[in-house]
Amino acid sequence: MKKKTLTIKDNRNGKVYEFDVKDGSCGPAVADLSSFYEKTGMFVYDPGFKSTASCESKITFIDGEKGILLHRGYKIEDLAENSDYAEVCYLLLNGDLPSKENKKKFINILTHHTMLHEQILRFYSGFRRDSHPMAVMVGIVGALSSFYPEKKYDFSTNKGKWVAVSRLLAKLPTMAAMAYKYSLGQPFIYPKNELSYSENFLHMLFSTPCGEYKPTKASVDALDKLLILHADHEQNASTSTVKIAGSSGANPFACVAAGVASLWGPAHGGANESVISMLKTIGKEENIEKYIKKAKDIDDPFRLMGFGHRVYKNHDPRANVLRKYCHNLLNEVDDFNISLFKLATKLEKIALNDEYFIKRKLYPNVDFYSGIILKALGLPESMFTVIFAVARTVGWISQWKEMTESENKISRPRQLYNGKDNREFVKINDRKNIQKMFPLQVD
Ligand code: SDX
Repeated sequence: MKKKTLTIKDNRNGKVYEFDVKDGSCGPAVADLSSFYEKTGMFVYDPGFKSTASCESKITFIDGEKGILLHRGYKIEDLAENSDYAEVCYLLLNGDLPSKENKKKFINILTHHTMLHEQILRFYSGFRRDSHPMAVMVGIVGALSSFYPEKKYDFSTNKGKWVAVSRLLAKLPTMAAMAYKYSLGQPFIYPKNELSYSENFLHMLFSTPCGEYKPTKASVDALDKLLILHADHEQNASTSTVKIAGSSGANPFACVAAGVASLWGPAHGGANESVISMLKTIGKEENIEKYIKKAKDIDDPFRLMGFGHRVYKNHDPRANVLRKYCHNLLNEVDDFNISLFKLATKLEKIALNDEYFIKRKLYPNVDFYSGIILKALGLPESMFTVIFAVARTVGWISQWKEMTESENKISRPRQLYNGKDNREFVKINDRKNIQKMFPLQVD
């Protein structure tokens, strides 16, 4: 069969270059440009990697135009409807849904690794009480790498990888709940082995020594669905961060800490927190038009948080599922959350009928409704991205594991340099004052 190739002609000198084209099992093909520099002496320029495939993967497929999200071939809507987070973790890691026996063994292992080494608890006290919980998580997850040193655990072996996977999946909820308790000045609550993953997480978040928190079924379901919907999402910014860190052979616990840092940004996982702040700022339906106008104004930094996506140019399927679970959960909570939800659905309706958003294919993304569910569960905005980090840990570590199983080189992009060319050194007495120098102008 004729080899599939892409031919590129350099019109500056008439040279013609040929590159292999590789098809995936579904979705866009790729032009293998890994030899582009070698053949042409030029780099491929793609800031933000809008048109760049960084790897091959079998874990998650997204069709942004059609609003499709598959995990190992299963539709996210089916997984959210029929599965639970533990099963989705198993699926992402192993490539298929677990049998009853597999699932029991998998959950049993995770359950028995939910506790933290007592010394880790001392790290929390070094943080200011008013620290953002994501700042605490970056520190604590990074610190975990010192309790799983490479010299003791060889992370290049299956055994070592399983230690990293199982400890991170099992301990992230415990660390996240402790970050919340620390911010409240409440004592840490230890995990209980008889509880499911999401029940245990809610227990550690909301129980106190004076009283056991008994979550409703709707709360446990809503949290479990939220974790499923945030589990993995192809080569997003935080996953790529974990993999770039991992490509140097760094400790996987430290790599996940880098992922937590990347997720924190408001353009990424931090958006769920910003959505609630935005809805509170908008306040009531009559203010919606004013804020839509601000979002459209190129000179106004205000953006409609929870809207738009680098890949989805159609509805984010996760937002559709979350909107549905909002309904189920909001029957149980106070009016404020219901009014927040009503404002969000009204805002969505107006935006989706506005030419600016239609032309740019800006739809609600996963963060648009997740904040409302998290608020209804009783969490403060500052904890929203922490919950996202707990959910995404399985995606980070599954993609890290897949990367380590393929022949991976250190990730080291190049650049288009447009700074100063080679120049003679100038002695200090011959130098002039530089007018606009950073940071001389800061007060
Ligand atoms: C997540 O990658 C992933 O998969 C991420 C994620 C995951 O699961 O890992 O899905 C999770 O991060 C979801 C996204 C959460 N972020 C937000 O909700 C923040 C608000 N949205 C954006 O800032 C923005 O939409 C991004 C960052 C999500 C995507 O940005 P892109 O792809 O770089 O697009 P862009 O900024 O170039 O915008 C294209 C146009 C611009 O207008 P023009 O220059 O063409 O005139 O759309 C406009 C933008 O100004 N635009 C918005 C907008 N988002 C884009 N205008 C108003 N409000 C917005 N939210």
